[in-house]
Amino acid sequence: MGETIAVGSGKGGVGKTSIVAGVATCLAAMGYKVLAVDADIGLRNLDILLGMSDTTALDFGDVLRGDTELEKAIVRCGDLENLHLLNAPYTLEESYDAAFEGMMERAKKLYDFCFVDCAAGLGRSLKMAASAAGRAIVVTTLDKTSLRDAARAVERFDFYGVGEIGLIVNRVRPRLAARAQSPNIDDAIDVSRAQLLGIVPEDERVIISANLERPIILDNCNGAALAYYNIARRLIGEFVPLMRIKNQ
Ligand SMILES: Nc1ncnc2c1ncn2[C@@H]1O[C@H](COP(=O)(O)OP(=O)(O)OP(=O)(O)O)[C@@H](O)[C@H]1O
Ligand SMILES: [Mg+2]
Repeated sequence: MGETIAVGSGKGGVGKTSIVAGVATCLAAMGYKVLAVDADIGLRNLDILLGMSDTTALDFGDVLRGDTELEKAIVRCGDLENLHLLNAPYTLEESYDAAFEGMMERAKKLYDFCFVDCAAGLGRSLKMAASAAGRAIVVTTLDKTSLRDAARAVERFDFYGVGEIGLIVNRVRPRLAARAQSPNIDDAIDVSRAQLLGIVPEDERVIISANLERPIILDNCNGAALAYYNIARRLIGEFVPLMRIKNQ
């Protein structure tokens, strides 16, 4: 029996989908069976980051409506045998949201880790993901606006009864914090009141690999790719010290 991890944020565009793609790919490469679920109804893009944009016809809307079985809607990601994707529908009647939890209960029996990549904000997607998740990850950058919204997302996951809530600080640029031009990691922990699960440096290879539709860890083992690997190792219970991020 695996676990379901909801990945949310308050503010949009902070890196949830990049982190789900990166960490899920690392865990699959480490031998775990991983399902990445895109829960961004109407605006899915996890398929692009996993290099699967032309190969996915069915989505979880088809499963929740009872039009197909879960196993038939899931697709394998390229060369990584252990990594599978379940797409978000472009539209879904809200009356089906309650069935998401049951679908994920079934998924948990088939996978070691199920990641649910939420839409930004505190709305429907976060609620649906939280209903199925034993653990949540809130992603933020070190912008004040993003941090305040991350704190709201942490509160919301807590309100929905998600037991463990971790924080990932993405796009870290130490020079700004060192010059007191942005909050630092300690501020992020204070504001969000969540436990720090990892930090990811600003790394243009995240953008490039997304545009090439090629998972970043297939070509890199430092920068953001190393950060994703460290986070994956923490998720399986290893102690991994925080990475040192060079000034940039
Ligand atoms: N560590 C990083 N370094 C540089 N760019 C990054 C990093 N992480 C994410 N990005 C870039 O930031 C943008 C937003 O990332 P992403 O789509 O993963 O965010 P998101 O939180 O899922 O967005 P949304 O709220 O729209 O779902 C993308 O262009 C992505 O390539
Ligand atoms: Mg996203």
